[in-house]
Amino acid sequence: MRHFKEFLSRRDALKLGLSAGIASWGMSSLAIADDKSLPLIKKKIPSTGEELTCVGIGTNSFTLADAPNIQAVLKRMNELGGTFIDSASAYRESEATIGTAITTLGMRNKFFISSKISGGEKDEKKMGDLGGVKSFDRSLERLKTDHLDLLMVHNMLNTNGLMPKLQEWKRAGKIRYLGISTAENSDHQQLAAYMKKYPLDFVEVNYSIANREAEETVFPVALDKGIAVTINVPFGGKHEENLFLNNTGNRVLPTWASEIDCASWSEFLLKFVISHPAVTLAVPGTTKMQHMESNIKAAHGVLPDAAMRKRMAAAWDA
Ligand SMILES: NC(=O)c1ccc[n+]([C@@H]2O[C@H](COP(=O)([O-])OP(=O)(O)OC[C@H]3O[C@@H](n4cnc5c(N)ncnc54)[C@H](OP(=O)(O)O)[C@@H]3O)[C@@H](O)[C@H]2O)c1
Repeated sequence: MRHFKEFLSRRDALKLGLSAGIASWGMSSLAIADDKSLPLIKKKIPSTGEELTCVGIGTNSFTLADAPNIQAVLKRMNELGGTFIDSASAYRESEATIGTAITTLGMRNKFFISSKISGGEKDEKKMGDLGGVKSFDRSLERLKTDHLDLLMVHNMLNTNGLMPKLQEWKRAGKIRYLGISTAENSDHQQLAAYMKKYPLDFVEVNYSIANREAEETVFPVALDKGIAVTINVPFGGKHEENLFLNNTGNRVLPTWASEIDCASWSEFLLKFVISHPAVTLAVPGTTKMQHMESNIKAAHGVLPDAAMRKRMAAAWDA
């Protein structure tokens, strides 16, 4: 099986920090549910070279009522090598639940905490930066931390108004990385324009085997500018009408999925997403231990190469 670095250009490989190999394979001794031998797949954040495991967790369904379970899920995720927690000030109780869990666990520094700032208004002129500052202060308070690893402008709202603030907070050490998020194809052209305009570390964007539009718009700019890419809604989104993972019920997983260490559709779909050369990691949303374990399993073993990615897409499309 060829690794995907074999089809990257040398320039792309350098930008992704893959010149020394596809990933850091150093955590291969981590136990995972049913296969202790598969190495962990990591990729580098282009702006610094810091490594991240290619699957994290999305938290827009986290609730305080479920806090003991969430604490157990996050602890286990970390044991399996997952560190990236994707939240937002707009996700109701998500930040407070994460803050409570990591403080109780005493594990703040073992996680990469990403949140999103609420611009509040589509109309940038009405907004000023006030809502943004309040949103950020509230995030720090709820997450019980004095800094975030990553702060993104949520859904690109008031990007021009908020970006100077994010840059100021980065200089002051209140955030380590900055970026912009969206989950709509209709935003991709504008997102690509912001990626050319601002010195972003990250963008977060919707992409999946069933919706590959970002390959044409966002990913080429990310590779060119050296911007890390987090993928949201890798299964289509938590709402039933969008969650295409539900439609895999009567489709048989191809036997050749075992060649890329996939034993389930969720692993197959995540491996497709994280194997794109522009993609740094995916953040599937779940509150369930079993689903989290299966998702982190996709960040282990062989990553599909270009030929395998074509085969996967063709199998899905058929
Ligand atoms: N604009 C933005 O910035 C934006 C927008 C949307 C989402 N996001 C972020 O992206 C994250 C992911 O999006 P999402 O949660 O809406 O959609 P998603 O990750 O595509 O799908 C989540 C759904 O998949 C199910 N699921 C997860 N893992 C599974 C597995 N292994 N097997 C079977 N089902 C599984 C979950 O059910 P269970 O809960 O039952 O596991 C949930 O219903 C969010 O949590 C959020 O952090 C960002």
